[in-house]
Amino acid sequence: MSDAVTVRRPDTLRGTIAVPGDKSITHRALILNALAHGEARIERMLDAADTRSTLACLRALGVRIEQPEPGVVAVHGRGRAALSEPDDVLDCGNSGTTMRLLTGVLAGLPMLAVLTGDGSLRRRPMDRIVRPLTAMGADVTARAGGTLPPLVVRGAPLRGVRIETPVASAQVKSALLLAGLAADGPTTVVEPARSRDHTERLLGAMGARIEVDGTAVTVTPPDGDLSPVDVTVPGDVSTAAVWIVAATLHPDAELLLTGVGVNPTRTGLLDVLREMGADIELLEQRTSGGEPVADLLVRSAELHGVEVSGELVPRAIDELPLVALAGVLADGQTVIRDAAELRVKESDRITTMAAVLRAFGARVEERPDGIAVEGGGRLHGARIGSSGDHRLAMMGAVAGMLADGETVIEGAEAVSVSYPEFWTDLGRVGATSEAVRG
Ligand code: S3P
Repeated sequence: MSDAVTVRRPDTLRGTIAVPGDKSITHRALILNALAHGEARIERMLDAADTRSTLACLRALGVRIEQPEPGVVAVHGRGRAALSEPDDVLDCGNSGTTMRLLTGVLAGLPMLAVLTGDGSLRRRPMDRIVRPLTAMGADVTARAGGTLPPLVVRGAPLRGVRIETPVASAQVKSALLLAGLAADGPTTVVEPARSRDHTERLLGAMGARIEVDGTAVTVTPPDGDLSPVDVTVPGDVSTAAVWIVAATLHPDAELLLTGVGVNPTRTGLLDVLREMGADIELLEQRTSGGEPVADLLVRSAELHGVEVSGELVPRAIDELPLVALAGVLADGQTVIRDAAELRVKESDRITTMAAVLRAFGARVEERPDGIAVEGGGRLHGARIGSSGDHRLAMMGAVAGMLADGETVIEGAEAVSVSYPEFWTDLGRVGATSEAVRG
């Protein structure tokens, strides 16, 4: 089923938007509390397709999770050892985080589990977790020579090891740390650059021994169970990114985005946009659920081109399509390097973002590890497809909010993965009048 939405440029872009809860933190609040002993209340959680996949998988593992009201869940953990063998395949839907983190959990539990997902997830690389988990003693097999889902996990005794990962990936790091909870000694994961650290923060708050030294993280298996922790989930900065870029590039804009998570391992986009000349203020800085949070006030600005590479890339990985879009309207060239990881996201985002930007009339050069964008361009309304990728659908919609004429986004339902209310919020700012099923 594919929905099409028409997007047009609003005359002004003003108002206040409370973006939905953070996807990464919601997954972790659910999974980690399911391993703890006791009850945890999670508020303002993201209720979207990806986090529903995690919820359903945890229930299939015997965890009692209640939803007393919308956006709130109570997780009744009975400890890691109380998880029970699922009587069917675990369907992770579109969610790489669900599949990779749960595989880490299951690797050390005495049961058989099979994890699968939708067509996009079944094309995503799993050797990055299969290999290091195997080095820990796990028994995990995968299709296509150990690379692609479905995954078959047979629980085994695990060894604590030191693993150097070739790419900075919070999903891989988290899978290994979760497996490390069940190992016979400390597990250290060393990354080439620091990836998002929500797992470490939450594990620490739940009483696990976590040490961070540069890009190395070590978990020491706890003597007993983790303690449950109530979490109020901050707004998702990767979702806020859509509005930050729209407000920066629209000529008459002032948007206030409330309660956004500003964990420094996630705010690469803010650094990049500021370097390009953006006007973004962080107001009311505070802490929620062990994570830094702020309100963001974003106003129109003139941008100049930028180069994004190295350690900035993992800190802005999901926002890079939006950086490329900003590059089209900036002065001069914008180049993104060291970002080959984009090719193994929900779509091959280097190819799909290049195709979307070209459809709007942009001049871009696709490269093996990124993209070069010629600035000083204009955007012309286009008919584009989402490639089933939520971030692409939203990037296309932002382009449509800035383009001459009308834009049609096909496959608009893809946003339900991380931001089911997106098209409704777009209607509220006057950029579309259509309602789409989430
Ligand atoms: C995520 C980590 C990132 C990110 C994804 C969510 C997470 O993926 O792109 O959207 O929640 O850990 P990688 O770990 O594969 O880089």
